[in-house]
Amino acid sequence: MRIAILGGTGKEGSGLALRWARHEEVTLGSRRAEKAARVSAELNERLGANLIRGASNREAAGAAEVAVLTVPYSAHRATLDEVRDALAGKVLIDVTAPVDPARPAHLRDAALSAAEEAQEFLGPAVHVAAAFQTIAFTLLHDLAASAEGDVLVCSDHADARDAALHLARRCGFRALEVGPLRHARVVEGMTPLLIHLNRRYKVKHAGFGVSGLEGEDQGEGRQI
Ligand SMILES: NC(=O)c1ccc[n+]([C@@H]2O[C@H](COP(=O)([O-])OP(=O)(O)OC[C@H]3O[C@@H](n4cnc5c(N)ncnc54)[C@H](OP(=O)(O)O)[C@@H]3O)[C@@H](O)[C@H]2O)c1
Repeated sequence: MRIAILGGTGKEGSGLALRWARHEEVTLGSRRAEKAARVSAELNERLGANLIRGASNREAAGAAEVAVLTVPYSAHRATLDEVRDALAGKVLIDVTAPVDPARPAHLRDAALSAAEEAQEFLGPAVHVAAAFQTIAFTLLHDLAASAEGDVLVCSDHADARDAALHLARRCGFRALEVGPLRHARVVEGMTPLLIHLNRRYKVKHAGFGVSGLEGEDQGEGRQI
């Protein structure tokens, strides 16, 4: 699968790139192609192989089958605006958790989730799924750590949902469908809870796991 990680130079996007690079064709996107090239080179160094390339967000989105959006909520609309045409006919997996940088451990008041806003802004030509909001970047970057916690996937489109489930399993996580895109309001709201838990219990990557589903799909191998 050809994947563009928009804002992939950041903490969460680079972690996903590290986890996917051995299995999928990964391009990191950035507002500045040189920055994407530099961060890609650093990640390739860690992987010991030239697997990830860098490009502008627009170029990366244009070349991809599936785009993954990993930018702060403050940059969400502007980044979507930059790549809107390039995403037509494709799947977008939105990882955005709209936390308030001034109060990241508090739930914000909002009518729609960021993922619903993305779907509304991009229109029906793009199929949006929400996923990975409950997976900490520290866990993604720790390649020796087993992928604990569930990736919760919401979408109104089967192709977007299936792509997100596949990519979550590629990272070694158990991936669960949790319903339509409007349920992203709940999933995105779990990120401030995780930030609170990390602070309260002095840990780095608290996660959520659903009980009572023993026997349901496990990750495709919990190692990369
Ligand atoms: N960090 C986590 O553990 C975690 C976990 C779950 C979900 N998330 C969600 O994932 C998203 C990304 O989180 P992150 O921690 O990876 O963020 P980040 O490292 O702060 O930023 C990611 C990238 O977004 C771009 N960006 C930053 N500010 C921007 C701006 N004002 N305008 C346009 N682009 C901007 C930058 O890319 P360029 O400069 O290269 O363009 C940056 O490298 C957030 O919505 C976050 O809530 C994060």
